[in-house]
Amino acid sequence: MQDDVSQPTGGLLWQETDSRFFIELGRVVTPGREEIERAILELLPASSHEDFFAVELGCGAGWLSDAVLRVFPQARVLALDPSEEMRREAARLLAPYGERVELRHFLLEDDAWLRDLAAGPAPRCVYSSLVVHHLDGPGKQALYRRLHDLLEPGGALLIADVVEPASERERAYQAGRWDAAVRERSLAFTGNLRAWEFFESDHWNLWRYPDPDFDKPSTLAEHVRWLEDAGYEGVGVFWAQAGHAVYGGFRRSA
Ligand SMILES: C[S@@+](CC[C@H](N)C(=O)[O-])C[C@H]1O[C@@H](n2cnc3c(N)ncnc32)[C@H](O)[C@@H]1O
Repeated sequence: MQDDVSQPTGGLLWQETDSRFFIELGRVVTPGREEIERAILELLPASSHEDFFAVELGCGAGWLSDAVLRVFPQARVLALDPSEEMRREAARLLAPYGERVELRHFLLEDDAWLRDLAAGPAPRCVYSSLVVHHLDGPGKQALYRRLHDLLEPGGALLIADVVEPASERERAYQAGRWDAAVRERSLAFTGNLRAWEFFESDHWNLWRYPDPDFDKPSTLAEHVRWLEDAGYEGVGVFWAQAGHAVYGGFRRSA
């Protein structure tokens, strides 16, 4: 298997070793993952038995689409991810939903998937967790504009991601909060601190160990401005912890 899954425009990005780490420990190293799930499920603009189409950007092992498909039993989901290992894991988890879910390769930096999306049904919701920060600022702005025009009227873009601290003082604070959350979650979910120790030794806390070629988070103020500029209504920051946030907005109803 090719180990480097996403280098469309130069610079090595996500690798299959990262996928394996995240499949095993994503739940431990994501602060408030239960709150992220709750925010996306409760903000998704649909009633529980509606038939609608949704898209996940960077589904990873599939936990968030699993929640959407479970809570909305008539929903159909297109789950996108460039990693073969992630798609294999998501296919296993999402197999009980049969034809209600489709998994496909995509790259944020290559807009072929956006052209494919434009040719199909309009999504009621596009959601994503810990992926969009791999795009730079202009890339995120362009993504927000393109998705706005693809959404169903009244549809939503809901993003969970790491967000750039607004000051060095905040960066130090968020670094400490992320460490503390991972220590707590390591004990709570695995009964020991080995996951935390790996998180630390492998430099996953990007507020402490930045890697600007790989991670390009933007501030919450920038996200809010870019979403409003793209035409979204009801733009908000719905949850935040340890430099992670859920934010998004809604396309105006017809
Ligand atoms: C931190 S994981 C998050 C996975 C999952 N959404 C979650 O919350 O557990 C980042 C995901 O983004 C995907 N990814 C990394 N770089 C990408 C890129 N340039 N374009 C699209 N997806 C990318 C990876 O394959 C991986 O599944």
